[in-house]
Amino acid sequence: MIYGNQSLLLYNTFHIAADCSYFSEIRSEDEFIALQKEPLYQSNEKLIVGGGSNLLFTKDFNGLVIRNSISGREVVKEDEQYVWVKAGAGEVWHDFVLWCIAHNYGGLENLSLIPGRVGASPMQNIGAYGVEIKDVFEELEALDMKSGEKTVFTKEACEFGYRESVFKGKFKNKYLITSVTFKLSKHPVFNTTYGAIEKELEVMGVKELSIKAISDAVIRIRSSKLPDPAEIGNAGSFFKNPEIPAVQYEKLKEEFPAVVAYPLANGNVKLAAGWLIEQAGWKGYRKGDAGVHKKQALVLVNYDKAKGNEIYALSTEVLESVKAKFGVYLEREVNIC
Ligand code: EPU
Repeated sequence: MIYGNQSLLLYNTFHIAADCSYFSEIRSEDEFIALQKEPLYQSNEKLIVGGGSNLLFTKDFNGLVIRNSISGREVVKEDEQYVWVKAGAGEVWHDFVLWCIAHNYGGLENLSLIPGRVGASPMQNIGAYGVEIKDVFEELEALDMKSGEKTVFTKEACEFGYRESVFKGKFKNKYLITSVTFKLSKHPVFNTTYGAIEKELEVMGVKELSIKAISDAVIRIRSSKLPDPAEIGNAGSFFKNPEIPAVQYEKLKEEFPAVVAYPLANGNVKLAAGWLIEQAGWKGYRKGDAGVHKKQALVLVNYDKAKGNEIYALSTEVLESVKAKFGVYLEREVNIC
């Protein structure tokens, strides 16, 4: 079913009041194949949304928005050590993570409470607290947006990078992801290396480590500093943490000894963009209904009725001022439409 002139307000976590010319929700591969045969599908530009948690609409979308609501959770294979779980792209990410934890399938617990749906998780290789989706990714299935033909993408084929994959690059808008299969562990290896988790587990008085305890800790940390999209519009980190050459970092450190940085295996250094933005004076800034979150400067927020282009203009001001103060260029992580 294709609907005309639909508001996208409920379909983006920034709560931007943009409209689209046409809208359709698909719940199965067959529904997508049927949709592809519609003349309106063929004649319009298309945008696929899942949870709409990594999108900023700066204008109305003059085309067909397809909401991917393909559900399903299925164990497709297992052995002594691992279980392979296939999830429909339209599954709500956090619900799926909690389901895995309830079944004692380890690997996703550090990625608890990330907004969005399963299908978007490999697109930007979601990551948090020392884990990225690529660490537990087995394969995904996707349908060609033109021919409907099914392709299976292995981990290598996805070319995962920091918040990157082929689906944000060379295959942008070329495929509809229908399912993702994760290789999870029956005997989990706990990943608590990220400082904040260990501290939180201590505060919680956890004696025996478990994937549930790690998930609870992550939920507590996230809730304490990241705004809940149900209350304040946002799309998580608006910018990526920038990577700079070690020589540039050494110079920066001379001038700003407190700069927060993480050395990378390739010799470069990753900087905490949140720190740069806070030091540039933006944390808690508000102009109209557009703002920089008061507890995490990397997150831009819509307090109520901000327009997408107001949020975008604020992001430009932020990145220009960080460039002027630190000589470091911030890249937007959120998809701009
Ligand atoms: N910091 C500040 N001021 C701020 C924010 C951060 O000084 O306002 C400094 C602090 O020193 C802090 C450090 O930056 O120790 C790192 O901050 P945080 O642990 O909050 O993580 P982040 O680097 O800002 C990244 C991801 C988040 C993810 C967290 C935890 C990116 C773009 N963001 O943020 O992912 O939850 O690490 O692993 O890599 C997202 O992608 O949407 C997202 C929320």
